[in-house]
Amino acid sequence: MNIVLVGMQWGDEGKGKVIDILSKRADYIVRYQGGNNAGHTVVVGDKEYIFHLIPSGILHPGKICCIGNGVVIDPEVLKRELADLRKNNIDFSGRFKISTLAHVIMPYHKNLDQLREAKRKNKIGTTGRGIGPCYADKINRCGIRMIDLLNPGVFKDKLKDNLKEKNEIFKKVYGHPGFSFQKIYRQYLDYGKLFSKFVCDTAVLLNKACDDKSDILLEGAQGTFLDIDFGTYPFVTSSSATSGGACIGTGISPVKIDKVVGVCKAYTTRVGEGPFPTEFAEGFGNFMRDRGNEFGATTGRPRRCGWFDAVIARQSVMLNGITELAIMKMDVLDGLDKVKICIAYKYKGRVIKEFPHDFEVLSKAVPIYKEMAGWPNQDNNPSSFKQLHPNARAYLLELQKLLGANITMVSIGSARKSTIFI
Ligand code: IMP
Repeated sequence: MNIVLVGMQWGDEGKGKVIDILSKRADYIVRYQGGNNAGHTVVVGDKEYIFHLIPSGILHPGKICCIGNGVVIDPEVLKRELADLRKNNIDFSGRFKISTLAHVIMPYHKNLDQLREAKRKNKIGTTGRGIGPCYADKINRCGIRMIDLLNPGVFKDKLKDNLKEKNEIFKKVYGHPGFSFQKIYRQYLDYGKLFSKFVCDTAVLLNKACDDKSDILLEGAQGTFLDIDFGTYPFVTSSSATSGGACIGTGISPVKIDKVVGVCKAYTTRVGEGPFPTEFAEGFGNFMRDRGNEFGATTGRPRRCGWFDAVIARQSVMLNGITELAIMKMDVLDGLDKVKICIAYKYKGRVIKEFPHDFEVLSKAVPIYKEMAGWPNQDNNPSSFKQLHPNARAYLLELQKLLGANITMVSIGSARKSTIFI
């Protein structure tokens, strides 16, 4: 069975934990978009692992983990992650693969990301990792791909061409001295040598796996509302974070996808700028942020927190074709008197049930809430749906009804064992 797993909100839904659980049943685990702007946290025993590029499935012995063509790779970060795996005695020989077609983040992408953000009046809140400029070069047809790093002649021509144009822009627009060809050329050819044994046509590999009836887990990074098309543009990332991106980013045809699992928190968070209708007021927001330890796995930035927004979650179910839901961090809502779910927005007296595309409407939308009774701290470590407090069960059933998809997993803590399967 080939499963796509997607974030339903603005990223950081806790996908890492679900991926880790689903990885057990998969033969192949594949990243299909984004880059090291993502951070998937997995807790195994008393050890916490944070992955930015390598699929966290690598922790499961024998599983084949791929970075698909839709991902953008910062070689420095990949080198570090591979070194960390070696340090932790995780054997990945023969089971880690990188697509020949994945684009490479170059030093000028990172600088440009930060310089552009600094100049913008309306900041996006980018992670500054060069993701946007790298994808822009891909679309502009001047990007450098993994396969290019294995061919010194091709790489030389492409890098020279890029620097000719980019150094002019850096100097004239940003007052930046520009980049030395030799330094980047040598450094990136070294990366090429280092990664060459992992680089292959992952589309062929994965399609053969489909023919062999192997199970593939396609792990999305970020979330639906950070998707370049369907997100809260321009406050989005630069890739297709929805389930459709899984096909584009791997070369697996849509007809070979069997199921899409959506992951969302029992409330909502967002990092960076952009509209967020259900955002908490500051005091309660700080309280919930501390409670949920809502700080970015990649940048450490505090996350903005708010009530569950069923308007965006419903849209996410539709856009991704989600039939199963994993509700994460349910325990963070323990001990509140009341909990709220946003069921629609109000704008200028009008009730809006669908996700609005007009920036002004979305920015000024006032949530209409359904208020429900809270539940006490669940010290009994519930291991089944039945053992959850009745009010917690009612909350989950309401989410299920509003979203029109089945909840199959509820997370009540970061450890693998703190998971209820339904
Ligand atoms: P970029 O992808 O680094 O350019 O960032 C663009 C926007 O997406 C910013 O608001 C980031 O905070 C947000 N973003 C990017 N990656 C993630 C993620 O993995 N989780 C949450 N937000 C993200």
